[in-house]
Amino acid sequence: MTVTIVGSQLGDEGKGGIVDVYGEEADVVVRYQGGDNAGHTVVHEGEEYKLSLVPSGAIRGKVNVLGNGCVVNPRTLFDELDALRERGLDPDVRVAERAHVILPYHRLLDGIEEEVKSEDDDEIGTTGRGIGPTYEDKAGRRGVRVGDLLDQSVLRERLEYAVPQKRALVEDVYGLAIDDLDDPEALDLEALYDEFAGYGERLAGEEMTVNAGDFLADRLAAGDNVMFEGAQGTVLDIDHGNYPFVTSSNPTAGGAAVGSGVAPGAVGDGEVVGIVKAYLSRVGSGPMPTELGGVPGDTPGYDGDPENPETEREELATYIREEGHEFGTVTGRPRRVGWLDVPMLRHAARVNGFTGLAVNHIDTLAGLDEVKVGHTYRLDGEALDTMPATTEKWADCEAEFRSFDGWDDCDWADVAAEGYDALPENAKTYLEYLEAELDAAVYAVGVGPGREETVVRENPF
Ligand code: IMP
Repeated sequence: MTVTIVGSQLGDEGKGGIVDVYGEEADVVVRYQGGDNAGHTVVHEGEEYKLSLVPSGAIRGKVNVLGNGCVVNPRTLFDELDALRERGLDPDVRVAERAHVILPYHRLLDGIEEEVKSEDDDEIGTTGRGIGPTYEDKAGRRGVRVGDLLDQSVLRERLEYAVPQKRALVEDVYGLAIDDLDDPEALDLEALYDEFAGYGERLAGEEMTVNAGDFLADRLAAGDNVMFEGAQGTVLDIDHGNYPFVTSSNPTAGGAAVGSGVAPGAVGDGEVVGIVKAYLSRVGSGPMPTELGGVPGDTPGYDGDPENPETEREELATYIREEGHEFGTVTGRPRRVGWLDVPMLRHAARVNGFTGLAVNHIDTLAGLDEVKVGHTYRLDGEALDTMPATTEKWADCEAEFRSFDGWDDCDWADVAAEGYDALPENAKTYLEYLEAELDAAVYAVGVGPGREETVVRENPF
């Protein structure tokens, strides 16, 4: 069977930890979208692992697949694999031949475009990993796929088409001198060819490439449990998120089928577990109706000046940011923090068809007298219970809050050991509210960063 794990918010919901817990029953862990923008931290046997591309199943000795919907930076792939090997692990990672390759010029262009947009305060706040430019080339049918790395004449042909275009873009559109760039080799055809042909040899030598759809169909037919590990989150989905403040792929559950070659029926017959953080965080720009306190440069209208009225709620945001370690795994950037946004979650529950929920960071909110949620929005005098389709309207939404009594801090390791009933009553009231609003049962509750700090009520496999 399949279990699909999807972020229900803006990424950073703690998916890696849940994938790790449920992944114990999985034979194969599949990423179906995104690339090395997906910073995730997995704590296993007291060791902390920070990964950005390799699926978290690699820590647990599973077979891992980067599906065709992914964009793969071979530099990151091999750096992460080498680092895991140095720590004594033996990761088994297969890469779809149909996945697209992130080349150094994609990263370069990601940076240049953000820079240009920032002149008008229009930057997305990307992770700078070249994700958008790589998906652009995929859609523009000028991308380099993993399978192309295995055939040197095809690789050369692809680069001979793409590289002059990228050089012209940098020089003629952006008006930059290539020799003055930090990394002029990013646009040097021969240097790119040598490096990436080398990755092709390594991928072939380690027998890492697969036809992902065939590979997974065989594994499912053999009775294996397959887990799809979504990266980012629903509101960062290029179709269902808050465009243009999105990533360039489909983290939503439908992406699991398209991005892996497994039929939609197989994904739909399985379980789809929505990962919810008990509050909200956001990296980068874009609206956030339940925002508490922001990050200068990322939060519209907020500059960190104590005289600025936006700074008022900063203390609580800072508290939650620090307690919840809300700093980017990939970039180290402080994340914007807000109360739970329930209209956002209703949207996510519908788009993804959640059959269950895992709610993380219940421990982070412990000790607060009051915990709020944005229950509905008000837009132009009307109440809305889900997100509007345009980002401009979403930015105009005002959250209407509901208040819950807070819960005390406690020995969360004991709670995790004893199970759901041991959770503080007020935390259970909060969770039951979510179950009722989203029409999905809480399968797991995260009460700390480690695998063992998860209250598991139901295992979807
Ligand atoms: P990109 O994916 O690097 O193009 O970034 C596009 C948007 O998605 C930016 O707002 C990023 O901050 C956000 N984003 C990308 N990956 C993650 C993630 O793993 N967690 C949270 N936000 C992310």
